[in-house]
Amino acid sequence: MGKNLLVTGLQWGDEGKGKIIDVLSRQYDAVVRFQGGANAGHTVHVGEEKFVLHLVPSGILHPEKQCIIANGVVVDPECLTEEIEALKARGCDVDGRLWISDRCHVVMPYHKMMDGLQEAELGDRQIQTTRRGIGPCYADKAARTGIRFGELVDPEIFRPRLRQALDVKNRILTRIHGADPIDFDDVWDSYHSYAERLKPFVRDTVDMLHGLEREGKSLLLEGAQGAMLDINFGTYPYVTSSNVCSGGATVGAGLPPSSIDDVLGIVKAYCTRVGGGPFPTEQDNEVGAYLREKGNEYGSTTGRARRCGWLDAVALNYTVRVNGVSSLSLMLMDVLSGLPEIRICTGYRTGARTLEGFPSDAGALERVEPVYESFKGWEADIADVKRFDQLPEAAMDYVAAIESLTGTQVKMVSVGPKRSQLILRD
Ligand code: IMP
Repeated sequence: MGKNLLVTGLQWGDEGKGKIIDVLSRQYDAVVRFQGGANAGHTVHVGEEKFVLHLVPSGILHPEKQCIIANGVVVDPECLTEEIEALKARGCDVDGRLWISDRCHVVMPYHKMMDGLQEAELGDRQIQTTRRGIGPCYADKAARTGIRFGELVDPEIFRPRLRQALDVKNRILTRIHGADPIDFDDVWDSYHSYAERLKPFVRDTVDMLHGLEREGKSLLLEGAQGAMLDINFGTYPYVTSSNVCSGGATVGAGLPPSSIDDVLGIVKAYCTRVGGGPFPTEQDNEVGAYLREKGNEYGSTTGRARRCGWLDAVALNYTVRVNGVSSLSLMLMDVLSGLPEIRICTGYRTGARTLEGFPSDAGALERVEPVYESFKGWEADIADVKRFDQLPEAAMDYVAAIESLTGTQVKMVSVGPKRSQLILRD
């Protein structure tokens, strides 16, 4: 793989990016988050310990790696402070190697309130967001009314900015949503104290990243969520509010496209989705229940049960192309063991018509009928398999089918949550 690698999810998030980033981190000098916020939940297993990271790049678990929360991320200072404290309490030192861009937008209490209130107004068309204030924060960023970290850590600037923001937001909260107003002193006290705590981590990360590039250091760009949740290419409006796909990495980190040498796509061996919106291959039956229980498909951020279904090669083909993926890592392959038959969706049909491409309209996607190809399952537990050719024949056939349907090589197959449970090919 090239010097700078982008790791990105190709489905609806929760593909297992955290594990791959953790495993690959040791080969890179710095790990960079470039979009999303505390809506993400990257689970990493180190020995018997389990870490769930929301904002801090997963590379933090490797001593000496620089970890950067770049400008495209929206940061909740309360959540970040808690995460730093929790890492320190478990012996992981973050000082001098965790950095937050001064251009990151700050998730404010009114963003989190608005997230819930806006959802309530959608009735049965709810997006079922994580309620972390992500959409309202990105909305303020685009409307040019957001507060950035550079402003948060300067009390002279933050105080009047907060007063001005609350003046407007409280009118919206009370007059439009009928909610209680937010008290200035409450927010000032808590946010001023987060600012003091986080100030040493805040810097110009564009300058820093370009400096690392000049020194020949290698960067691992850590995507959050998945391409089907991308604000442009996902199942809009049932998406998150950031540019999840690979193009977002350049905007979200201040790096030119030419500095990304390779894109590794992370794919679960089946599909899951948490939240509302179309999901053509969903199995709301015993197959879905089997995948959910065996794959422990419950949200790491919200604890919500994930919707489960068969792998969707139509959606995958689309996201492979949009991201310019050069190879794939196939995750949670062990979860499929024990199923007598495994299916992959290879086409969408409406009536007698087979669709070309991937529909942009969520309603149209809701109505498609998936066309499946059927594969033989395997009984054997594969959690301890170390080499690709030791997998059951049927499992190797399944991987080969994914390669042929996407025209992309599967370079890694994950067979369990531990770092060691990863089959590397080549
Ligand atoms: P938001 O990002 O909280 O606004 O939520 C928008 C949609 O994206 C909802 O369907 C969420 O469930 C989904 N979502 C956001 N972050 C993640 C993630 O990290 N994994 C899976 N789904 C996510």
